[in-house]
Amino acid sequence: MSDFAHDLPKAELHLHIEGTLEPELMFELAQRNGVAVPYTSVEEVRAAYVFTDLQSFLDIYYAACDVLRTEADFHDLARAYLERAAAQGVRHAEIFFDPQTHTARGVPFADVVGGIHRALASSDISSRLILCFLRHLSPEDAMATLEEALPHLDLIDGIGLDSSEVGNPPGRFADVFRRARELGLFAVAHAGEEGPPSYITEALDQLAVRRIDHGVRCIEDDGLVERLARDRVPLTVCPLSNVRLAVFPSMADHTIGELLDRGLCVTVNSDDPAYFGGYVGDNYRAIADELGLDRDQLVTLARNSFEAAVLEPAERAQHLEALEAFLRAG
Ligand code: HPA
Ligand code: ZN
Repeated sequence: MSDFAHDLPKAELHLHIEGTLEPELMFELAQRNGVAVPYTSVEEVRAAYVFTDLQSFLDIYYAACDVLRTEADFHDLARAYLERAAAQGVRHAEIFFDPQTHTARGVPFADVVGGIHRALASSDISSRLILCFLRHLSPEDAMATLEEALPHLDLIDGIGLDSSEVGNPPGRFADVFRRARELGLFAVAHAGEEGPPSYITEALDQLAVRRIDHGVRCIEDDGLVERLARDRVPLTVCPLSNVRLAVFPSMADHTIGELLDRGLCVTVNSDDPAYFGGYVGDNYRAIADELGLDRDQLVTLARNSFEAAVLEPAERAQHLEALEAFLRAG
């Protein structure tokens, strides 16, 4: 069951490209760019990846981004992700990037988006690119970032909201989300990872998002669970991330099975795979092994991933047909 889960054709909808920076590539880019890193070996880096909450992760994650300087760096980062993802059944990926983390260091917006796009364009995996605003920064900073993105909107499909959740409710970003939606971008937002269920409601009501990233804390509000089920609002759940960031004490405590049983459009994703111990197939494997999800549930998760993706009807049908062909062959 575990290999079946790992290999299932699937879409990945919650993936921060900066979170795919493996320690080996970090050292390679540090050397290429003459940037100092505070580690002496790959083992030392991995040993530092022990987190107590979201912020303890974000501090290390933003620091590591310092090695990313050039268009080629962003290309190589995205290329490495796509190769790993393809080996774990990913047929379609909707990828987040955090431009503010890079433009604040003087890296041109065009190099960030151009490098990522060049890798996406040469891959067999279909893809969408999602610009995430950092919610620990101001709404004005987010609006300025959207303005900076305007010359590159042909390469950008959606917007998201990430970084430190508690104390930074979605409603702060209502204006910039409205402007982005007017520009034709689709909207998603992280909500209900560490923050309360009310942040999920706020993201739906004030940001008009089509998916909720994480969203696992919806389970504390029965009315909200019913709303999410009725409206088929997808949740992009990230099991290994949730355990590493102590959203759940262990995988055995994860509520993804219950969310599925309650009729939600749940999907499985890797979030920041270089930091959390695995790519998306590894996440499917972990819930199959440690939560005992059965074949039907795993197939539902894969089907949901294509349902929740931002695809044209013909593209969606093709991906779903490839999934059915895989199931017939197995
Ligand atoms: N939550 C919030 N911000 C993030 C995450 C996350 O899981 N990963 C990268 N930035
Ligand atoms: Zn995330």
